[in-house]
Amino acid sequence: MSEWRNSMLLSVLLLLAGSASAFVEELDDSFMETRGDEDIWLIKFYTPWCSFCRQLDPVWHQIGSELTSRGSPVHVGKSDGSTSPGLSKEFKVRGYPAILMLKKNVKYNYSGARTKEAILDFANRVGGPLVRSLSSVQLFQHAMSHHDVMFLYIGATSELKGNFTSSAEELIVHTYFFSASRDVLPKAVSLPSLPAVVVFKDGSYFQYEEKQDGDLKSWINRERFPNFCRIDSHTLYAMGESGKLVVLALLEPWSRSEESHRYKLLVEKVSSDYTEKYSRSFYFGYMEGSEYISGLVMGEVSLPSLIVLSLSTDGYFLSEGLQGEQQLLDFLDGVLDGSRKPQGGNSMLQRLLRVLFEARSSLRWMFSTFPVLGYVFVSVPFAFIGAVFYVCCWRRRNTSDDDDDDKEDKKND
Ligand SMILES: *[C@@H]1O[C@H](CO)[C@@H](O)[C@H](O)[C@H]1NC(C)=O
Ligand SMILES: *[C@@H]1O[C@H](CO)[C@@H](O)[C@H](O)[C@H]1NC(C)=O
Repeated sequence: MSEWRNSMLLSVLLLLAGSASAFVEELDDSFMETRGDEDIWLIKFYTPWCSFCRQLDPVWHQIGSELTSRGSPVHVGKSDGSTSPGLSKEFKVRGYPAILMLKKNVKYNYSGARTKEAILDFANRVGGPLVRSLSSVQLFQHAMSHHDVMFLYIGATSELKGNFTSSAEELIVHTYFFSASRDVLPKAVSLPSLPAVVVFKDGSYFQYEEKQDGDLKSWINRERFPNFCRIDSHTLYAMGESGKLVVLALLEPWSRSEESHRYKLLVEKVSSDYTEKYSRSFYFGYMEGSEYISGLVMGEVSLPSLIVLSLSTDGYFLSEGLQGEQQLLDFLDGVLDGSRKPQGGNSMLQRLLRVLFEARSSLRWMFSTFPVLGYVFVSVPFAFIGAVFYVCCWRRRNTSDDDDDDKEDKKND
């Protein structure tokens, strides 16, 4: 009886293992020759010894099974960089794990959070059409309700449409692109001229104007975040490319005090009341916890507080003890007109200090979490250096002894 049960269990397991490999294909160096030209692939590059890669395994399997069950055109694969180095090289993989998509011979790099939802969204976005046509009022409203930020081309075929599509080719990794005719939009949306490129976000919209906004692709790259949102380290990193400064309310992570709440509301209010004035220069948002920012400013930051980050230069402006709206406005104006000087920066000295600070925090973390490991970690290098010194000196003494021997030998000769 129990033997029968075991064999049943075994076949179920084999079946599961079989279906797992059907969802995610293992790809080797022959992949580029054997794949179909029109195939779309989502590929994870990994190595057997990378622990972040292993953490991604269950997520990858879920992604494979979900895309298969939805009938998505996206194939899911994985490739071991240690046994198929050619394929990793072809995709210019520099670190593991790496997530890339291949569509019509164009490779798209994923750099967002490694969660199932975020990766599936990326796969659907890049796997679908570059510019999605919203042909009815219903489709337009559906898209509006699903996207915080939405870039829309309105009008017939034109040079602007060509520029919009070529921007999409590069920026589809970050955001969706849509097109529609004028009559699909609500009457309340007023557009002075057509064709037009419009961004809908924060419950409002504005139109791209080449004269003041410059090149379309850079404008889309700058405007692809909501004006106010919750910001994590991935978002912050991505915002760096936009060239805007980021105004952050730093809040307590768990139980939020009234004071934290006040900071958040204040930043949100200024972001929406002064959109005209500030939205070209600043993104606004809030971040929970100070760990990430402490690393940046190399010190403890009390919570709540307000910080303005210049991500392109690693500079920052810190304001603790924020009183009210007027003080925040003065602070932001001071940042913009240069009367406030940034701290930090990316000079050689600052970078060195940052490395030291990070090393110190990692050590402190290690001592508090795994004290024994911490001591081992610190003592091993010292023991090693000691050993090297010992061996060198010992060798030198011995070599000089040998020399003496040589001399003696010669004398004897
Ligand atoms: C992909 O993105 C990562 C993280 O942003 C970056 O380090 C890497 O160089 C990029 N790879 C390619 C092939 O562009
Ligand atoms: C399209 O892009 C080109 C090159 O960036 C630019 O010179 C041209 O003015 C753009 N056309 C429109 C209509 O925006």
